Amino acid sequence: MRKKITVVGAGNVGATCAQRLAERDYADIVLVDIIEGMPQGKALDILQSGPVLGYDSNVIGTNGYEETEGSDIAIITSGVPRKPGMSRDDLVLTNMKIVQGVTEELVKRSPNCIIIVVANPLDAMAQLALKVSGFPRNRVIGMSGILDTARFRTFVAQELKVSVEDVAAYVLGGHGDTMIPLIRMATVGGLPLTEVMHADTISKIEERTVKGGGEIVALLKTGSAFYAPSAGTVQMVDAIVLDKKQILPCAAYLEGEYGINGVFVGVPTKLGENGIEEIIEIKLNSEEQAALDKSADAVRELIEIMKI
Ligand code: NAI
Ligand code: 2OP
Repeated sequence: MRKKITVVGAGNVGATCAQRLAERDYADIVLVDIIEGMPQGKALDILQSGPVLGYDSNVIGTNGYEETEGSDIAIITSGVPRKPGMSRDDLVLTNMKIVQGVTEELVKRSPNCIIIVVANPLDAMAQLALKVSGFPRNRVIGMSGILDTARFRTFVAQELKVSVEDVAAYVLGGHGDTMIPLIRMATVGGLPLTEVMHADTISKIEERTVKGGGEIVALLKTGSAFYAPSAGTVQMVDAIVLDKKQILPCAAYLEGEYGINGVFVGVPTKLGENGIEEIIEIKLNSEEQAALDKSADAVRELIEIMKI
């Protein structure tokens, strides 16, 4: 039987996720939004691409939750995006109310689903979804590390004029200014990045990666990135639906891993049919560990603001 995937928020990220997922042809999609007619219209449009692109995924748009019943995966993209000058953290109180209500509605009808959180500020919203859902931690996952790592890989590949597929890297930590591109472990065609690129150039790429979301917000002026974020989200769905056991950087609730307890932070995870099947612990040096601790503290500050 086909999987059922609900995408909440039919805006830029949500609708693009729905489109990418429909094209996968392995699941039926329910697209939810509060704007009347909008998710229905976008769903119909995606559905009508099926005969041309050759997929049979059913795609339904709705303003309610009845149709979401029995979903295997729920993706929460509902929330306000950044405007120029805003940080992701500025969104916390607005998006908190949205994510809380949406999570309650989802878990009522899909108590066994895996939740992928995309709304910002990402780590704090994932923590909220975990708390509200009461789910075990393997079934609530945040999408950010794949996006941040993809930005880093893009910039490295552009600079060295190699395929993006030749660049392997991890960007860990929270999805914000404290994220950590793990330079020491980045490779290009199997060679350490530090051996094939000058340290100053690496520093510039590191900085551009950390500010990568803001760069796009400044260009778009009316919203934030959505093509790469939806690609990252769908890579997570692929790993779960196809039980790939793929190691991907995702925001996970840590219970002592990396010496961090009780907070979501981006770390390498193994994703399969059960969601996060393993949190992979890489041996960090003291500088990297200090950066990860700082990142976890930044997430804790937001959790305090939310009082959860
Ligand atoms: P958008 O404004 O295009 O779409 C958001 C949609 O959510 C809107 O259509 C809105 O009507 C809907 N919505 C609001 N409240 C709702 C509710 N209670 N129930 C259902 N739908 C509701 O924004 P976009 O660009 O799609 O971004 C969505 C969120 O994802 C933002 O918070 C953004 O910051 C975040 N984001 C996170 C990324 C990450 O790496 N984790 C990357 C890109 C975006
Ligand atoms: C990004 O990094 C807005 O968090 C989003 O593009």
